[in-house]
Amino acid sequence: MFAALSVAAGMTAQTHVFDVNTSKVGGAIPSTMYGIFFEDINYAADGGLYGELVKNRSFEFPQHFMGWKAFGKFELKDDGPFDKNPHYVRLHDAGHSDKFTGLENEGFFGIGYQKGADYRFTVWARNPNGDGDVKVRVMLCNPSTMGERQQMAEGQIVVSGKEWKKYEVIIKARETVDKGTLRLMLTRNSKTVDLEHVSLFPVDVYKGDENGMRKDLAESLEQLHPGVFRFPGGCIVEGTDLATRYQWKNSVGPVENRPLNENRWHYTFDYRFFPDYYQSYGLGFYEYFRLSEQIGAEPLPVVNCGMSCQYQNDIKNEADVHVALDQLQPYIDDAIDLIEFANGDPAKNSWAKLRADMGHPEPFNLKYIGIGNEQWDYKDNPAFTKRLAKFIEAIRKVHPEIKIIGTTGPDSEGEKFDQLQPKMAELKVDLYDEHFYRNEQWFLHSGNRYDNYPRGKGQPKVFAGEYACHGRGKKWNHFNAALMEAAFMTDLERNADVVEMATYAPLFAHVDGWQWRPDAIWYDNLRKFNSCSYYVQQLYSLNKGTNMLSLTMNGKPVAGNDDQDGLFASAVYDKNSNEVIIKVVNTGDKPQDATLNLKGMKGSHEAQLITFHSDELTAENTLDEPQKIVPQTSSLTVEAPSQTITVPARTFHVYKIKK
Ligand code: AHR
Repeated sequence: MFAALSVAAGMTAQTHVFDVNTSKVGGAIPSTMYGIFFEDINYAADGGLYGELVKNRSFEFPQHFMGWKAFGKFELKDDGPFDKNPHYVRLHDAGHSDKFTGLENEGFFGIGYQKGADYRFTVWARNPNGDGDVKVRVMLCNPSTMGERQQMAEGQIVVSGKEWKKYEVIIKARETVDKGTLRLMLTRNSKTVDLEHVSLFPVDVYKGDENGMRKDLAESLEQLHPGVFRFPGGCIVEGTDLATRYQWKNSVGPVENRPLNENRWHYTFDYRFFPDYYQSYGLGFYEYFRLSEQIGAEPLPVVNCGMSCQYQNDIKNEADVHVALDQLQPYIDDAIDLIEFANGDPAKNSWAKLRADMGHPEPFNLKYIGIGNEQWDYKDNPAFTKRLAKFIEAIRKVHPEIKIIGTTGPDSEGEKFDQLQPKMAELKVDLYDEHFYRNEQWFLHSGNRYDNYPRGKGQPKVFAGEYACHGRGKKWNHFNAALMEAAFMTDLERNADVVEMATYAPLFAHVDGWQWRPDAIWYDNLRKFNSCSYYVQQLYSLNKGTNMLSLTMNGKPVAGNDDQDGLFASAVYDKNSNEVIIKVVNTGDKPQDATLNLKGMKGSHEAQLITFHSDELTAENTLDEPQKIVPQTSSLTVEAPSQTITVPARTFHVYKIKK
């Protein structure tokens, strides 16, 4: 579609002139600028991105049959082949020709499967008596079908021998079912069999990886072209208490022997309580580094700093809730060993060797590490910074090449923030992590946040590590929240010399299992939709350019100030595509005209205009209408140096002008 901009102009009063100096290319936009934040909240890992379809596959949940229905004659045993997951199930013949023995797994809010697709079933098994073959039927069922048969896919494994072995069968689904089950059944007059680590993955996982990721969700990440990938959180780094903190060493090595962890989001909110929320660690640090590499993002792991979640653990006696300073070494070792796991030489370091053994002898080229999540200092006790200082000292000694990320705590401003921000500079961290889940007014009034930030030599850079607009009274995903984020992000872009990276949060949510919203990507067992906030992130990421350009109105940044009619704007240059890219957000309820004064350009220029708009402010994409609100692209010609544009009310525009 071709649009004649000058025709559109003139419909509203001409009041704004954006001076864009295209002849003076500014500093580089960091390649890490727009990234992703992953946390296993909202069933983001097990039940989400991680391709495993079986819940409690190793029978290690504290209620060992949670997620399972066992029927017939069965026993729970605890001397299995994997020392960190010792439980398994023994199935005996039902002892009557009309009865059955078996197991049925409910998956995560059901097991979803697609007609015609193949599913890989694997299990560790043996015949403990060694008295012959045991046939186990493997079925995908639809317990709520009105059809004659519940089985929608069927296969069989034949277990032979007393030794534990891994068995596999691939089964093809005859129907599409979103809330099915996996059923295992002994054939009649069966011998006894032991089953451990019962697993089911779609064959078609992302990149066909072993222990792989759900393809459609991983593709959403890839399509964001994230520059950086923060993992594993969030509060999950801290756990509910230290015992349930994320321990990366438990998340690597053979999946069968990764011990279970209670998910910190199991019971954070009593009004969204999920008693079956555990972490299998199947999506662990190896899978994370591999995924970062596949989607082209710099990995940014965050480790526990020896503190439990400060929201949930009152400091009456410091040693009761946090690790004493003289006991901190194992935590520091965890950070250093993680760097070795990612980058080390397999011939020299056992963690690096484990990485090589897992299939990646080459280093993952880790460059960043975050120490602590939302930590802070108490009035009379620098609980966080005294621990952080020890990490910094130790890491700098052995890995001066790694950039260390501190934090300014949970708030975007206020006492904790004011106290921590200067301390980050004193401690000489490379970056500090800021979080802001704030309402519309905050976003509308924060368009200049970074214009006057501490910058220059010796000042740490900013990692806006968690942010999202939480609409006042509308704390869910909708177009207006995404528009607020788009407006605010002009500030990130304009200040890319200060802000090195920014990650919207959280990333994923299962529609049946969420604890926190809004989120970037939603899904059920078979479908997904990318939210409006996702598309805003993508528009910035795909159009981040390579260098900053100055864009001002009356000599000031366009940042939604009182005399700026709700307009926000920023500009970059992309030396690869030779484009000037201008982002304009009209947050107001009237269309606004603006003249682009493209200093340094002359004549007609081919351009593209990407428009992101919804007439309905509280509208959002849904599982049924995943493409309801998506960016629309049109072509146009821009006249330089002076071109008038019209930005409709409540609209985000991206102009890509060939230089
Ligand atoms: O993103 C959800 C939570 O918000 C994170 O776990 C935490 O860091 C923040 O409070």
